[in-house]
Amino acid sequence: MTTMITGGTGFIGSCLAKILIDEGETPVLYDIAPVQGPLSEHSGRFVFERGSLEHFPILMDCVERHAVDRIFHLGGMLSLPSENDPWKAFDANVVGTRNILEAARVRNMRQVIYGSTIATYSKDIPGDTIDDRTIQRPSSLYGITKTFGELLGRWYHRRFGLDFRGVRLPSIVGPGAKTAHMSIYNAWAIEYSIKGLPYTLNCEPETRCPALYYKDAALALNGLAAADPGRIRTRVYNIAGITPPFSARELVRAVEERIPGASLSFKPDAVVVELLRELGSLKISDACARTEWGWELSYPLAAMVDDFIEEFERHRSYFL
Ligand SMILES: NC(=O)c1ccc[n+]([C@@H]2O[C@H](COP(=O)([O-])OP(=O)(O)OC[C@H]3O[C@@H](n4cnc5c(N)ncnc54)[C@H](O)[C@@H]3O)[C@@H](O)[C@H]2O)c1
Repeated sequence: MTTMITGGTGFIGSCLAKILIDEGETPVLYDIAPVQGPLSEHSGRFVFERGSLEHFPILMDCVERHAVDRIFHLGGMLSLPSENDPWKAFDANVVGTRNILEAARVRNMRQVIYGSTIATYSKDIPGDTIDDRTIQRPSSLYGITKTFGELLGRWYHRRFGLDFRGVRLPSIVGPGAKTAHMSIYNAWAIEYSIKGLPYTLNCEPETRCPALYYKDAALALNGLAAADPGRIRTRVYNIAGITPPFSARELVRAVEERIPGASLSFKPDAVVVELLRELGSLKISDACARTEWGWELSYPLAAMVDDFIEEFERHRSYFL
């Protein structure tokens, strides 16, 4: 029995790989990008296979050679890269997800776990709460492709009995995030301060954004995978993140308490402020994840900042 992680060398994938390694597995990491960061310290305890999601023969060959019977599907393109290169994003996220589900069907796999996103929701949400029944009508290509992945997975479950499950993650915070995105200030305010560099947050002190520590994201995926199938009714679950969402001011205070020389300031970008005002005012309900498979947050704001600093210091050479 072998577990494959697509996007296995990525930010969340490599964190999940470490959890599976600690549980005694030797996961197969399928990705177009090489292994980097702290995961390199565990070489020999995972298998890296370089390949793209849209190349079905390469994917099937990998699945067959390693007798893969479970996939965590985290590979694909995120929001900004998808808007910048929509056709490539379509291939990676739409064709890629079809290929993963098809490989799982052909090989009669025991499970596929999907990393979706709260970006599958749009601005025109009725009321002020997003729950697992809220209509998904995303406007970004990223959101559209991820909604498709959720729906296709549900169809494979209904039509072929595939044990497909997924989580919709909020913005993920952790050390070593390289790609700038709307809420990257959450990670970079901490990371720049550890490095002794000044950092200007491009939001307002009161800006709030639903966020989750990267270890909690990996724990959510693994927890969902382990849940009793009899309790899985909703199938794809919202994960609200740190609740209520912390403000940028609260983050700055938490960093300054731990790193006295931190030099953090604000220069709000109108677009970021406006987009996050909408998102930060919405309540995300993850009641179904809590009641159906016992999801619980392990890293609230203070624990997240503490662990971020510890992780960074432990693996400093990879992050500089
Ligand atoms: N980071 C976040 O804030 C966030 C929030 C919600 C959901 N998610 C979801 O979680 C998953 C993992 O995100 P992440 O933060 O680890 O991102 P990441 O960019 O670090 O990881 C994605 C990985 O997919 C690989 N990849 C991209 N295109 C590929 C292709 N065509 N074939 C094979 N591999 C390919 C990349 O090389 C990368 O290693 C994604 O599916 C994303 O949609 C992320």
